[in-house]
Amino acid sequence: QTAPLAATPPMGWNSWNHFAEKVTDADVRVAADVMVSSGMRDAGYVYVNVDDTWEGQRDAQGRIHPNSRFPDMKALADYVHSKGLKFGIYSSPGPKTCAGFEGSYGHEEQDAQTYAEWGVDFLKYDLCGLRSVMRSQKPQPDWNKANAIMREAYLKMHEALVKTGRPIVYSICQYGSDSVWEWGAEVGGNLWRTTDDISDSFRSMALIGFSQAGLERYAGPGHWNDPDMLEIGNGHMTSDEYRTQMSLWAILAAPLLAGNDLSKMDDTTKSILMNREVIAVDQDRLGTQGSRLAPLQVWIKPLADGSKAVALFNFVTDDVPQPITLRFKDIGFSSSVHARDLWAHRDLGLLHDSYTVIPPKGGVVLLRVWQ
Ligand code: GLA
Repeated sequence: QTAPLAATPPMGWNSWNHFAEKVTDADVRVAADVMVSSGMRDAGYVYVNVDDTWEGQRDAQGRIHPNSRFPDMKALADYVHSKGLKFGIYSSPGPKTCAGFEGSYGHEEQDAQTYAEWGVDFLKYDLCGLRSVMRSQKPQPDWNKANAIMREAYLKMHEALVKTGRPIVYSICQYGSDSVWEWGAEVGGNLWRTTDDISDSFRSMALIGFSQAGLERYAGPGHWNDPDMLEIGNGHMTSDEYRTQMSLWAILAAPLLAGNDLSKMDDTTKSILMNREVIAVDQDRLGTQGSRLAPLQVWIKPLADGSKAVALFNFVTDDVPQPITLRFKDIGFSSSVHARDLWAHRDLGLLHDSYTVIPPKGGVVLLRVWQ
């Protein structure tokens, strides 16, 4: 019947990184407007996701209602849909969310039904509150039991979502603990966070991004590793560092969820988020997560047309950038290859044996290479 969910890594915007607990209905509408007017939607960003702090109280029947900052969720979803976009929401398997709002514990089916009625297309389900439930159990469950409780909670919501009959992308958020990549797909996850929360600093982004090596075998169409959202445009990294995040996330076949204030994007931010050649690397239909060519910070992603995306990172931030030499035979090609620089938007012609570059400080050279 319908196309498989998340056949390529989900792309969109999420309110948390910039707006956090201050987000309002109006902010989300503006984000949707700008996703259309800026060209983001047409570049592939379709999910408009409200993160934590939209939740209000349950009524006498147990039905969840939004709080005063979100007067009408159905109307908001309709607005988002009217722009040709999809609408996402957030909850927790625990009684409380991370920010202390109402979670779905004991109301899973009812909440899934409510989300479906509102027109929700994406649910981020964030562990936080369930930890307190696990901690309050007497006697304390051992690790295996605790892990089983967590899996059951995630499976429960997956089943509730399926029961609604509405296709809803299911985003598991439990900060990469308990090797979620080994069981995330089994409990219905289309993506699962592999790490703790990102922040808008090179250190946080690089620690997360460059630590993803080894997880590639768990990712594929319909089920992705999620190294958390983009910080591009939030202001505390250089443009070269933001290009590093965009390139690395594309190589990793990571979800691309912008986390900035879209109404205040400058041209550089737009050019990074909407570099279609880089997006094409992320969205390649093979869905292979790239891997690291150790010991270098050179990362390779095989693409459906037989070409390879190759990212050469300058990982050194406190020193003079060093040249990096890529030998084509090390990435499975014979001596001569064609190459294109995806940030310079420039064909490099036919290259022989190797290519040496000095990526800018904190930055990257991203190539597409083919024989
Ligand atoms: C956790 C998640 C974040 C965000 C906040 C909201 O920290 O990892 O991405 O959703 O909760 O409270």
